[in-house]
Amino acid sequence: MRLFFALWPDDEVRAQLERWSRELHALCGGRATPTENLHVTLAFLGSVEEARVAEVERAAGEVTPRTVSLVLDQPGYWKHNRIAWAGASVVPPELDAFVAELRGALARSHVGFDAKGFVSHVTLLRDAREPKAMPALDPIPWKVDGFSLVQSVTLPRGSRYEIRRSWKG
Ligand code: 2AM
Repeated sequence: MRLFFALWPDDEVRAQLERWSRELHALCGGRATPTENLHVTLAFLGSVEEARVAEVERAAGEVTPRTVSLVLDQPGYWKHNRIAWAGASVVPPELDAFVAELRGALARSHVGFDAKGFVSHVTLLRDAREPKAMPALDPIPWKVDGFSLVQSVTLPRGSRYEIRRSWKG
């Protein structure tokens, strides 16, 4: 199964991200991430055998979930993959430290993951055009109080993400 660790927004944050997505879509077009799938990826594991999932969960259990105040205040666009995203102009050091701790625990347990550096972002649109200028959008305050292990289920119409387990701060 395809797995990743993520910050999973509550309904209020999700609704505000959806508003950003609609505003950006008007400028950039592209395919919007379904609202129920919006998240921040912390570590992307990719394909994991069923028999290894317990080990993945055990490794995550070693990490202390933290409460972090994250403010999404920066819409962005990456030319190389045509993604429009929501990000934070200031990533709290506790969040970077937490991701390093999580990834360290996975590495110690020999759980493989994409080693690309953590870039805190929520993918809003794929195949998007570069906007002439980014719109001003209302900042989204997000009280992060834990993290989740998420399974990506591939359906004919795209991926659906299912939370397998969450750890709360
Ligand atoms: P993205 O949002 O920037 O595309 C599920 O696929 C999630 O894992 C997505 O949020 C995706 O990031 C992220 N991810 C990170 N590394 C990935 C990889 N190597 N392959 C697929 N998804 C990856």
